Amino acid sequence: MKKKNILITGSEGLIGKSFRKFMEKKSKNIFCIDLKNIKRKNYFKCDITNENQVKKVIESISKKNKIDVLINNASVNPNADSKMKTFKFTDYSLEKWKKNIEVDIVGSFLVSKYALRVFQKQNYGKIINISSIYGLVGPDQNLYTSKTKKYYGYKNLEYSVAKAGLIGFTKALASFYKSSKIEIICFILGGIENKPPKKFKQKYNSKNISQRMAKVGEYNEIINFYCSDKASYVSGSCVYVDGGALSIL
Ligand SMILES: NC(=O)c1ccc[n+]([C@@H]2O[C@H](COP(=O)([O-])OP(=O)(O)OC[C@H]3O[C@@H](n4cnc5c(N)ncnc54)[C@H](O)[C@@H]3O)[C@@H](O)[C@H]2O)c1
Repeated sequence: MKKKNILITGSEGLIGKSFRKFMEKKSKNIFCIDLKNIKRKNYFKCDITNENQVKKVIESISKKNKIDVLINNASVNPNADSKMKTFKFTDYSLEKWKKNIEVDIVGSFLVSKYALRVFQKQNYGKIINISSIYGLVGPDQNLYTSKTKKYYGYKNLEYSVAKAGLIGFTKALASFYKSSKIEIICFILGGIENKPPKKFKQKYNSKNISQRMAKVGEYNEIINFYCSDKASYVSGSCVYVDGGALSIL
């Protein structure tokens, strides 16, 4: 397989870290963007909602390197509030709503804009947007809380809005690059097991065909395949890897 240069946002989170280590083992060049203060080769501290920072980082990477693939992976998936309490939608703050949507919607737009300038010069490139099953179905609040107080829930809503937005972004953007070697696709991923509460895990497992959550690292090989030239004829498409969560009621 031809060696690819891959740029991933949110590289220090659960999926990002696992994917970076996986790619490094395959001796692939992976350029990383995240908010954290880290000194590491090919790591760039950057807030992807800040246009100047994004422009600077992508220009600095592309001066010396080609970029074959961009993975828009950074996101904010907050609980309703830091104390993890149930909340009433009608009390939810506009400030949180905007803040939690911004990384997916504004961040992915900005990173894509500057990466696509590089792709246009190269006449090829691929964007992989990382969405979630919650971009297609709303979270069942019963998974998160057994409390039945009227009109209350636990899982925030803007995550669903942000992830649905990425699906629309994928499809609409792909059309700008019709019949070119620049492709844009989207992954719709199911939940990864990361020390969930026992009750949540039992309920989540019962709601999908595989009867389990994904393991950390389980998506790496699949994402790697879609980074490669072997994955063709897929631009504008969504790839579902969800253990069948979206296949049953
Ligand atoms: N973990 C899951 O179960 C799951 C399931 C389905 C989809 N996803 C999707 O996979 C992707 C990665 O999920 P994860 O679980 O690794 O999330 P995570 O919260 O562990 O990591 C997200 C990373 O994004 C970074 N980030 C946040 N705001 C940023 C900004 N403004 N600029 C740069 N970096 C920023 C964070 O610092 C963090 O390291 C997300 O898009 C998420 O929606 C995750």
